[in-house]
Amino acid sequence: MTQNNTAKLELGDKQIELPVVVGSENEHAVDITRLRSETGYITLDSGFGNTGSCQSAITYIDGEKGILRYRGIPIEQLAQQSTFVETAQLLIYGELPTADQTRRFSDLLSQHQRLHERVYKHFANFPSESHPMAVLSSMINAVSCHHPDILEMEDEHTFDSAAARLISKVRTIAAGAFKTAHGEPITYPRTDLPYVRNFLHMMFSLPYDDYDPDDDVVNALRLFLILHADHEQNCSTSTVRMVASSGANLFASCAAGVCALWGPAHGGANMAVLKMLTEIHDQQIPYKDYMERVKQKEFRLMGFGHRVYKNFDPRAKILKQAADKILPKLGINDPLLDIAKGLEEVALKDDYFISRNLYPNVDFYSGIILRAIGVPINMFTVMFAVGRMPGWIAQWKEQVDSKGRIFRPRQIYTGANERDYVPVAQR
Ligand code: ACO
Repeated sequence: MTQNNTAKLELGDKQIELPVVVGSENEHAVDITRLRSETGYITLDSGFGNTGSCQSAITYIDGEKGILRYRGIPIEQLAQQSTFVETAQLLIYGELPTADQTRRFSDLLSQHQRLHERVYKHFANFPSESHPMAVLSSMINAVSCHHPDILEMEDEHTFDSAAARLISKVRTIAAGAFKTAHGEPITYPRTDLPYVRNFLHMMFSLPYDDYDPDDDVVNALRLFLILHADHEQNCSTSTVRMVASSGANLFASCAAGVCALWGPAHGGANMAVLKMLTEIHDQQIPYKDYMERVKQKEFRLMGFGHRVYKNFDPRAKILKQAADKILPKLGINDPLLDIAKGLEEVALKDDYFISRNLYPNVDFYSGIILRAIGVPINMFTVMFAVGRMPGWIAQWKEQVDSKGRIFRPRQIYTGANERDYVPVAQR
């Protein structure tokens, strides 16, 4: 970070100078830390579209150019060459790990993959129609109840152990929620399987039938998890950092992240996209008619638009190519993929979408990949959360290490002025 010039602000007869902060990719920010104390004014920024909440060295996005990099490495290279566990280490520790570091981290993941037997029992107490995101967020906090030692986070070693537990156990919880909802017995993890295969094993193996996934299925899930691993200061990550800023532990902060991810304007969009494509398919709605209703603002085209990307979301590009390759290899001919491509084609030629810079985001094609793997719709956002866990952990650590102040935005009050309490009989 450099600080090489200042911005001048005039408020009435007052003029103040504010420092300009420049990031390593030449992004500029006006530092308003002293604004209120010097002028009495605050800034108002609905949806925080112009507000930098922190300085971060984890993920870089250029929304105009469609660039996404984790710790400087382009997402396309990681998608092609890395594993999910290696990408997680890159995000959390800042560098690509050596073979030895990966072996040690993988050992930690294996060591912590099982849940405490009492935690397994919680699954049976949720109604079978429970939303798996509710189960996931509750179970993350439930897990922490059994490890009070790691909540203190006194040294690096405890952090490594807590991070490994969370990355490993979130997958065990996700699979447990899926099994419980489907009335199937829970499948325990295996120590001989790598991360993604082990996840698929817990999701789809049965006591009488071991699931041995095709390499293409494993690869599709690897890709999905890597592409979702971090995305700088989005709603759920900002939530994690907000909660962390109060001094809350890693598990509490990440459970809050799960809740924020749940919403349909964020991680829940992947479910909404599949529901939309299914509705168009089942009711045979012509693309143009559907788009007219979107343009009349009856509803939004789910999986389109992004606060930061004003060009193609690079993750959507990778997932679209992956869907084109993986589905035929698995012998799947999914009509929803054709509908998605049809909608995209119409949207990219339509002035409504062009003028608002609305392009497909990561959720537009991710559901089709998950469906090909055999994941049901109500698990889509849970899969996103499993992928995002390394990013949340990295962002939690960066927030805690920065020893920053508690996040506490201000407001402009617009309510009633002072008035007297009226006893109930006189109302
Ligand atoms: N379909 C139709 N119109 C849209 C869409 C959409 N998907 N997205 C934005 N617009 C329109 C808005 O109506 C608005 O139009 P206006 O200028 O005439 O009022 C304009 O584009 C700008 O929209 P905003 O809501 O201001 O954009 P914002 O940056 O706040 O929202 C968001 C971004 C939430 C992603 C939005 O594009 C959206 O709702 N998309 C659909 C849901 C979705 O796919 N979410 C997943 C995002 S990726 C993720 O979280 C992993």
